[in-house]
Amino acid sequence: MPLNTKTWPAEGSRVEQVRIPVASDRDILRARQRGRELASEANFTTLESTSIATTVSELARNILQYAGRGEIMLRSIQQENRTGIMVVARDDGPGISDLKRALKDGVSTSGGLGLGLPGVRRMMDEFEIVSRQNLGTTVIVKKWARRCTTAGPGSTSNASFEKRDGLPEGRFGAAPPATGRVVG
Ligand SMILES: Nc1ncnc2c1ncn2[C@@H]1O[C@H](COP(=O)(O)OP(=O)(O)OP(=O)(O)O)[C@@H](O)[C@H]1O
Ligand SMILES: [Mg+2]
Repeated sequence: MPLNTKTWPAEGSRVEQVRIPVASDRDILRARQRGRELASEANFTTLESTSIATTVSELARNILQYAGRGEIMLRSIQQENRTGIMVVARDDGPGISDLKRALKDGVSTSGGLGLGLPGVRRMMDEFEIVSRQNLGTTVIVKKWARRCTTAGPGSTSNASFEKRDGLPEGRFGAAPPATGRVVG
């Protein structure tokens, strides 16, 4: 999927997508700020916007720390009556050899706290990570706004994602997938 850059919205227009290259600490800050802006415009509460901004900076920091460079893509998403944000963090770095382990609290190969990925997973409604050794890592997360201007059935639920993938929330599949992919 090509990650096209679109300019930040002009007055009155709707944000579709923004792409932020990540290769420095400054880029992490920029990505975090953009995440917060987009979240505010998408009707998220201040607390939810902070979760999104933190998610963006954790994923961007991992890109910088483990892959050296990569990109963050932020996109407004809509489904039925609900609106949300999708964050894609992508790099062509070394990949993660044991995804199941990397998603556990306190596991770090760099002497960090090892709370980045599991924390992101807890803060977001949907979480997917695909990683291949020496080919890179892609993390895709979504968060749906709890307060809706057009309230309706399913407006605050993440049931469709769980149904599609057949995985209960917050649990891994039975065995680590051979492709290095974890969803849910
Ligand atoms: N983009 C990536 N490329 C390669 N390895 C990664 C990437 N992101 C995470 N990892 C691996 O997954 C581990 C867990 O990541 P996580 O963000 O949870 O913790 P951390 O970065 O070690 O510490 P913290 O984020 O708490 O400072 C990392 O230690 C690293 O080995
Ligand atoms: Mg980290």
